[in-house]
Amino acid sequence: MINVSALTHDYGHGRGVFDISFDVNGGETLGFLGPNGAGKSTTMRHLMGFSKPQKGTVSIAGLDCTKQSRQIMEKVGYLPGEVALPEGLTGRAFIKMMQDMRGVKDGGRTDELLERFDLDPGGNVKRMSIGEKRKLAVVAAFMSDPDILLLDEPTSGLDPVMQEEFISFIREEKQKGKTILLSSHIFSEVEALCDRIAIVKEGRLVSSVDAADVRHGLHNIMTLEFENAKDFTEFSKAPLDFKLRDRRLLKCSVVVDDDQINRFIGAIKRFKLKSFEEHSVTLEEYFMHFYKSNKTFGGAAA
Ligand SMILES: Nc1ncnc2c1ncn2[C@@H]1O[C@H](COP(=O)(O)OP(=O)(O)OP(=O)(O)O)[C@@H](O)[C@H]1O
Ligand SMILES: [Mg+2]
Repeated sequence: MINVSALTHDYGHGRGVFDISFDVNGGETLGFLGPNGAGKSTTMRHLMGFSKPQKGTVSIAGLDCTKQSRQIMEKVGYLPGEVALPEGLTGRAFIKMMQDMRGVKDGGRTDELLERFDLDPGGNVKRMSIGEKRKLAVVAAFMSDPDILLLDEPTSGLDPVMQEEFISFIREEKQKGKTILLSSHIFSEVEALCDRIAIVKEGRLVSSVDAADVRHGLHNIMTLEFENAKDFTEFSKAPLDFKLRDRRLLKCSVVVDDDQINRFIGAIKRFKLKSFEEHSVTLEEYFMHFYKSNKTFGGAAA
């Protein structure tokens, strides 16, 4: 449904997007992750037809985003990363303007959205708080009930209650079969919503993984503290994937995947332990590691 093919836009000094390719299938939610300045918003702006690729193509539902940007704007719900609202309008006037632009005749859905996100559109947009402006942009993006959504850090600026509300709202949208590209820095949001995750770094796509594979592939780390040095020393020789062996504290940490659990239990049962702790690697730790290093991991590197 969404296709980005060899998208390149070099802004100089190593900035921009370089040879980015990915697809989002119909009904799928793709999480678009990456550090600040990685190229997420730039890619989305190209998909909306606001910027023209220097090389490569971008299309949505068979429409060329660059040449058919008018149709794209009608078809796609876009929530920009930075909401710039026209000065001097009330929220209500802005909504009316957006309804006219998007050809929304029935304001029923708009009213539902206003109520759901608890927004009073009566005031001047200039005097709205960051969160209120964000909510207004959410209402504008969803008012025409589009099948395809480009959401650029949709919950930034929303309070925790509204973030949760937004996540359950997107869950319902997913159930209706919507196709969504969602950029985010919030791992819990990505974990809750995305079927697949693409990671962009310094303008290049460095990884594309199935969220289910990531969840499944996450490790469990067992930390054991031994009662005596003899047991510690003996256990340390076991053929296991040790992350840490601290002779002074008599502590070991071992990576134990689900399929190794029985072997692990067999290996520990004859030793005297002082403490035992299990810790799962979270999606956040998994990606943080990736953000910080140049490693690629998990499934097909793009
Ligand atoms: N019109 C432009 N002119 C010059 N540089 C630009 C332009 N648009 C984007 N860039 C540069 O391209 C890079 C990617 O920016 P982009 O906004 O896409 O990052 P991002 O991944 O959305 O980051 P963030 O997480 O901070 O929102 C940045 O270094 C930015 O300065
Ligand atoms: Mg951005």
